[in-house]
Amino acid sequence: MKQKIWIDCDPGIDDAVAITLASACQDQLEILGISTVAGNQTLERVTENARKLTSFLGISQVPVAKGANGPLVRIPKFAGYVHGKTGIGNYCLPETDKQVEKDHAVVVLARRLASLPPGEKVTLVPMGPLTNIALLLRVFPEVAEHIDKICLMGGAAVGGNVTPTGEFNIWADPEAAQIVFTCGLPIVMCGLDVTNLCGLTREQARSLKERVNPVTRMVGELVEFYFQSPVYQGRELAAIHDAVTITYLLHPDWFTGRDMRVEVDCSEERNRGMTVCDFRGDPGEKHGVTVLLEVKAEQVREFWMEKLW
Ligand code: RIB
Ligand code: CA
Repeated sequence: MKQKIWIDCDPGIDDAVAITLASACQDQLEILGISTVAGNQTLERVTENARKLTSFLGISQVPVAKGANGPLVRIPKFAGYVHGKTGIGNYCLPETDKQVEKDHAVVVLARRLASLPPGEKVTLVPMGPLTNIALLLRVFPEVAEHIDKICLMGGAAVGGNVTPTGEFNIWADPEAAQIVFTCGLPIVMCGLDVTNLCGLTREQARSLKERVNPVTRMVGELVEFYFQSPVYQGRELAAIHDAVTITYLLHPDWFTGRDMRVEVDCSEERNRGMTVCDFRGDPGEKHGVTVLLEVKAEQVREFWMEKLW
């Protein structure tokens, strides 16, 4: 049985690689749809990237729906300094006549979940700010019965990338993240603790770029752009954060995690967007959030090179 997934994203270089990886694993994953949220770039730009990318990957049948154009409360902040003006570096995806869904992504996703037969469930895979997911849970709470779990890229038990304690997806919309982390559904948090260890080297990017397959070449060019950004100067690896969610769904045994309570700092102080992971948790009590803490990073990297080659 294939895992049914719905990807919510802000492509974004690593989002694009994650979607490419998912499209290469359709023997195990059924991508029901892709929704977009403002984050790495504006909603218009990330939606255009998702629209064109699905065609380029040959998954044009996967609906793309446009979601929230900014956080629930905070002022939108984009990450153009990492992902470039378009959101996908200098890469130009080919034109396509594929249309984005006419309704808001939250409505499209709720409708798709509600259409499932009783007992059938979907894994939500958020890879950007959690605005759409928070809205879904608040406006259409009844669809929770069709959500198996939420496997998200975001947060960190220790550290941050926008601030010392804030990871971008959570920091960008802390209120949305607090709603999601305390919603009671099973959550797998693919935070920086593991995603920072999962990346590709300059050499690997170059070898991908030199392949004949246009999709493989795109991945190489996207990752190579990462190394031009200030974030990856002098670093061995370019972390492909979002692809860790897809990898976890296919190889959970490569990860070690712990069930704990997670709350989000929704202040405007120095720890804005911090995912406060409570390691004290009573072992007998289930908190519902599995925080991934360790990963077999070499296996992940080999898997990516195999699937993206
Ligand atoms: O912190 C990494 C996350 O922020 C990734 O999802 C990346 O795409 C950006 O959105
Ligand atoms: Ca992302």
